[in-house]
Amino acid sequence: MSRYTAPPLPEIDVEEFRKVVTTRRSVRRFTDEPIPDDIVHDCLDMALLAPNSSNLQPWDFYRVVSPDKKKALGPACLNQNAAKTAAELIVVCGRTRTWKQHSAEMLDYWPEETVPRIVEKYYTVGTRVHYGTLPLDPFGRLKKLIRDVTGIRSPAPRWPNSSTDMQLWACKTAALAAENLMLAFRAHGYDTCPMEGYDDARVRKIVPLPRDAFIVMIVAAGRRADDGLYHRQFRFERERFIHEV
Ligand SMILES: Cc1cc2nc3c(=O)[nH]c(=O)nc-3n(C[C@H](O)[C@H](O)[C@H](O)COP(=O)(O)O)c2cc1C
Repeated sequence: MSRYTAPPLPEIDVEEFRKVVTTRRSVRRFTDEPIPDDIVHDCLDMALLAPNSSNLQPWDFYRVVSPDKKKALGPACLNQNAAKTAAELIVVCGRTRTWKQHSAEMLDYWPEETVPRIVEKYYTVGTRVHYGTLPLDPFGRLKKLIRDVTGIRSPAPRWPNSSTDMQLWACKTAALAAENLMLAFRAHGYDTCPMEGYDDARVRKIVPLPRDAFIVMIVAAGRRADDGLYHRQFRFERERFIHEV
């Protein structure tokens, strides 16, 4: 088996990256300037490059293009200005049931000439053991118990065990993609507001979703209005959150 040799890394200016990160703000009002289509798609493509669990890509992005749907999402997003004024609204979803199909497809999509045996085994057996859950809670507890017993002798993954765990599993990944998406818009000179302030049932009526899809956040995007920021950015002291152990 030949080893993959990655192409040389390009030079990266950390100060340019810092500019993107430090100027990203949750913007609550946008101008009525549209975002060019190719930029929106470029940002969505960058979202898809986010790290994700086992590369199983348990996410979906619904870009709302219908003017009627966009209008209806204003009230469904609790009349937030960010939603009402956004040029773009993207519903970022997690998926709890696509992993099995994606796992099987992984072998067809594998980018090298041969699929290493260990990879094949992981995507045919490993993922089923690791992510397979049964709908009833007691089975989740049973799976956890088996894992805890197995884990006494040697390190073993203790999680995920239940459908709730799988939501959390998909949510982590989809949230990372949402951050990529927001930073990509910023890098293009546009701004965003992640929103969890919405009426889930109403949003699902406007944007019909598969049964296993759940909304992680709705990302509003557009050109920052002069009065788009309500205050300066601030955080608590870093010592409260950064721990060296
Ligand atoms: C998951 C999530 C949900 C959020 N929901 C809303 C929301 O519904 N409405 C809103 O105005 N801001 C929302 N925000 C933005 C936060 O309020 C904001 O990120 C925080 O106040 C820090 O401000 P900054 O993003 O400008 O640094 C949300 C942020 C996240 C990460």
